[in-house]
Amino acid sequence: MKTQTLSPDLRALLADPETQQSLATTSNPEVLQAPGGRSYPIVRGIPRLLPGHDEAQGQTQDCFAFKWEKTDTYDSPETKKMALDWYLKKYGFESAGAWTSFYDSRKYILDIGCGSGFSASLWLDSPLWKGKAMYVGTDISTAVDVGLQRLGHLPNVQFVQGDALRLPYGDGAFDTIFSEGVLHHTPSTAAAIAEGARVLAKGGQFHFYVYKKKAPLREFADDHVRDELANLSNEEAWEAMRALTELGKALAGLKQTLVLPRDIKVLGLKEGTFDLQRFFYNNIGKVFWNDTMTFEENVHINFDWYRPAYAHRQTPEQVSAWCAEANLDVQRMEVDDSGITVIATKR
Ligand SMILES: C[S@@+](CC[C@H](N)C(=O)[O-])C[C@H]1O[C@@H](n2cnc3c(N)ncnc32)[C@H](O)[C@@H]1O
Repeated sequence: MKTQTLSPDLRALLADPETQQSLATTSNPEVLQAPGGRSYPIVRGIPRLLPGHDEAQGQTQDCFAFKWEKTDTYDSPETKKMALDWYLKKYGFESAGAWTSFYDSRKYILDIGCGSGFSASLWLDSPLWKGKAMYVGTDISTAVDVGLQRLGHLPNVQFVQGDALRLPYGDGAFDTIFSEGVLHHTPSTAAAIAEGARVLAKGGQFHFYVYKKKAPLREFADDHVRDELANLSNEEAWEAMRALTELGKALAGLKQTLVLPRDIKVLGLKEGTFDLQRFFYNNIGKVFWNDTMTFEENVHINFDWYRPAYAHRQTPEQVSAWCAEANLDVQRMEVDDSGITVIATKR
C-alpha cells in the first residue's frame, strides 16, 4: 500500500475537527496533537481526523469502505464516459479539458466525501492537471486509502480521513469545494452544506450534487428496501442488490414505452411518454440498469443507493434555503430526475 508524503501546505490547513484550533506535531511523526489532550493518528501519511459519530453514520462509513474496495468493478471506460457526460452537463463545463483547467486555476480544492476519487478522477486524472492547485480528498471512510492508490501519483494531490460535519480545517481554508453525491449521506444535509460553507473563503465556489425527493411510491420503496437491507451484512446486501439489478435488466430488455395520458396527482406522476424501465426507476423503485455498463457496475449503483443508512432526499426549495442560511449565493442549479446540482458562491 502506498504511503502519502504529507504536504506542508496541507499540514498548515489542518485543524482539530472538534474545535478548529490548530494541531501541533509531537515527537511522534505519526501523531497530531490538539489542545485539550486529544490526539489524532497519521496512518500511511494520511491524517485521520475523525471525531465520534452516530451508529447510522458508522454504517454509512462502513458500507462505502466496502464498496470502494471493489476497485475492479466501477471504472470501465463506458461508465466513466457516461458519468463524465452527465457531470459536464449538470455542472455546465464545455469539455473535460475545460473542467480540469478550471480546477487547476484555483488554489485549494476540497473534495468532500471523495470516496476512492471516482468522480474527481474525471477531471483530476488528466494531462491538463499540472498541480498548480492543491486537491485535498477527504472522506469519512478508509476509501481515502484506495483514493491514494488510484490518484496519489498525480501532482499536488492529498488525502485526509475526516467527517463532512466536522471538517478538520480552519474557517475559509479553501477557495473551491467539490462534493459529488455525499452531503445527503450525513446526519443532516443542511448541516453539511453549512459546514462546507464554513471552510470556504469569501468568493469561493461550492460545487455539489445531492439527491432529489422523488414521487411517493418511489420514496416508499426506497425506505422499505433500505430498512430490509439494514440487518444484512455488506456481502448479503450486495447479493440482494444483484437480484434487484436483474429486475432492472429485465425491464430494460422489454424496450417498452409507457404513455400516461394525464397527470396522476395522487401519485405525483406527470403525463408523458416514457421508457418503461426509466419510468419504473424514477417513480416506483430504483432498479438501475444501463446496458453499456457491466452487471457488477450496475449492482454498484443500486448498492450505493440502498445500502447507506443515511441517504436523505430533498427538494430544490430546501437546498436553496439551506444555501441562503449558509451565506451561499446559488449561481447555478440543475435539477434532473435523480438530483440537484449546485454551483454556489460564498458571500
Ligand atoms: C456516493 S459516494 C461518492 C464518492 C465520490 N464523491 C464520488 O463521486 O466518486 C459517497 C461518499 O461519501 C462518503 N461520506 C458519507 N458520509 C460522510 C461524512 N459524514 N463525511 C465525509 N464523507 C462521507 C462515503 O464514505 C462515500 O465515499
